[in-house]
This record gives sequence, C-alpha cells and structure tokens, in this order.
Amino acid sequence: MNIKLLSLILASSALIATACSESTETTDAYKAASSTLGKTSPVGRWYTQQQADEGGVIYQTHCASCHKPDASGTRNWRQTNANGKYPAPPLNGSAHTWHHPLKGLKNTIRMGGIHLGGAMPSFNDKLDNQQIEAVLAWVQTHWSDEIYFAWQSRSK
Ligand code: HEC
Repeated sequence: MNIKLLSLILASSALIATACSESTETTDAYKAASSTLGKTSPVGRWYTQQQADEGGVIYQTHCASCHKPDASGTRNWRQTNANGKYPAPPLNGSAHTWHHPLKGLKNTIRMGGIHLGGAMPSFNDKLDNQQIEAVLAWVQTHWSDEIYFAWQSRSK
C-alpha cells in the first residue's frame, strides 16, 4: 500500500473515531436520563405525587405525539428538520429543559414556539395553570435528583 493512501486512511479513521466518541457521549447522557424514568420520588420537590399522576394523563393526551410517551423526544434535537425548524426535544432531563426556571417552562407551554418561528403549538386555550403545573410535575419525575437539584439551584 502506498504511504499517501495509508496516511489518508489513518487520518480519516481518526476523524471517524472522534465523531463516534462524541455521539457515544450524547447517547450515554440520553441513556442515563432514560434509565431514571419513573424512579424519582417527589420528596423534597415542589410537586406532589398526585400532581405528577394527573400531569401524566394530560401529557399523554397533549404532548406525547411530539415529545414521545416517555418524554425522550427526538434524539438529534439540536438538528433542524428539512423545514428549518427544530424537532421536539427530550423533556426527560437529557436535553436543555432543566436550564429553564419553572416560570419559563410554564410560559413555553402557554405560548408554544410557533410565534417565535418554532413548531410547538400554544396551550393557552387548552390547559389552565393547574394543568400546566401538573404536566411539568410529571415531566420532572423523569429527572434524576442530580438534574433536578441542578435545575433548582439555577432557578433561584
Ligand atoms: C406539535 C408538536 C409538539 C407538541 C404537541 C408539544 N410540543 Fe413541546 N415542543 C415542540 C417543539 C418543536 C419544541 C422546540 C421549540 C419550538 O420549535 O417551538 C418544543 C419545546 C418544548 C419545551 C421547551 C424545551 C426546552 O428544552 O427548552 C417544553 C418545556 C415543551 N415543549 C413542553 C411541552 C408540553 C408539556 C407539551 C404538552 C402540553 C408539548 N410540549 C406539546 C413540539 C411540540
């Protein structure tokens, strides 16, 4: 094999290895978040188990079609679709949702994202404040304690 070709192959396999290790990290975070599904207790959190239970029913009715029944959303949530819009992100703690305080999350559900050029519909006419809080309680049952407390300390 000629040396030029060999070095080309080595260089490109190094590139592939880098790309793979990045995607493995993302997949690991995704798996770690998914493995906590339904395991966290509401003790020490702002919501009650009853709110979370009520929220689960609302979520399956209004949100699951886009964000998936287990809140795992779209794996490649950072990549726009062919229409230039972002797909529904995971809400299970593996993506960005935990960076927003409760008030901001409630606003997103109320207003949706269409008015900002996104794709999420507004729920202002469909869900009242209590229902929006319940659905967020259910969403947060998918967050590990680590993610929840990181969210809480950012939200102060
Ligand atoms: C038609 C698909 C669709 C439905 C139905 C939908 N969403 Fe979304 N959601 C999205 C998209 C897409 C985004 C990203 C922002 C945008 O494009 O508007 C998003 C963003 C969000 C965000 C912000 C996430 C972040 O990391 O910043 C939250 C929270 C959220 N949705 C919760 C909900 C809840 C709760 C429901 C049900 C009441 C719901 N969504 C219903 C598509 C949807």
